Amino acid sequence: MYIIGGTASRSVAEDLASILNCKIVNTISKRFPDGELYVRILDGISNKDVVIVQTTYPDPNIIELFLLQNAAIEAGAKTITVVIPYYGYARQDTKFQDGEAISAKALAGLISLNADKVITVDPHKEHILNFFSTPAYSCSAVSEIAKYLIEKEIDMILAPDKGAVERAKKASEIINCEVDYMEKTRKDGTTVEIKPKNLDAKNKNVAIIDDIISTGGTMSLSIKELKKQGAKKIFVACTHGLFAGDAIKKLSTAGCEEIISTDTIISDFSKVKIAPVIADVLLIK
Ligand code: R5P
Repeated sequence: MYIIGGTASRSVAEDLASILNCKIVNTISKRFPDGELYVRILDGISNKDVVIVQTTYPDPNIIELFLLQNAAIEAGAKTITVVIPYYGYARQDTKFQDGEAISAKALAGLISLNADKVITVDPHKEHILNFFSTPAYSCSAVSEIAKYLIEKEIDMILAPDKGAVERAKKASEIINCEVDYMEKTRKDGTTVEIKPKNLDAKNKNVAIIDDIISTGGTMSLSIKELKKQGAKKIFVACTHGLFAGDAIKKLSTAGCEEIISTDTIISDFSKVKIAPVIADVLLIK
């Protein structure tokens, strides 16, 4: 297996190569004076099984993925597996209003054109896997996040909404602690409402786990509610840390003890490595 890392996911690609004991393919990725992207695969991959690792966020990384897929085809790769640590555009997974694009479907269609298999991590909704016309699989970061949280003496795992409760349950089983969820209603892309709910959080260390932190609105409201209910330390953890705008400030101001995310999107908060769970899927699928 030969592994190519796009610029958004080079370290994940390197971790995968080290876990699976396979070769990292050397590439060049640079911009023409007008800003257009140029990629070149430097090593021979003819007739090889190739894995391209690239998060599709922000937008320029999508173009890079398409170019790398094309370069791999042109270089004679036998098979192409596309690993997308964070599948950007996955949240627009249906037509919420007439006339909208189903962005997750549009992107999946294009990625499938030059792929034999796709693997992604904690997609917002699993049904987006059906948008790919190739076999597509997901894996979850929750076990790795839970392993990181074990040493934080967590008493309770909290899901910020009912939809996220399965993920929270899985983490609580690994940590061996309580689990609960909050009642969240999304008003629009930037506004959420968290209904007060009696949680047994007094003097407890609580970790709130979600798939994505974007504006930080969901997490900061949850932190405030937990504070009101007397929680001791509050940790927020997510698979995909987008941290849009002043998300980090919001979380700190709300009184968060620590912000934790994986490296599906690289940031200062990427404390949990995602490669081990992706490697497992690559080995069995
Ligand atoms: C939505 O249902 C997701 O699971 C996250 O809760 C959401 O994307 C977080 O967004 P924000 O940080 O903007 O509240």
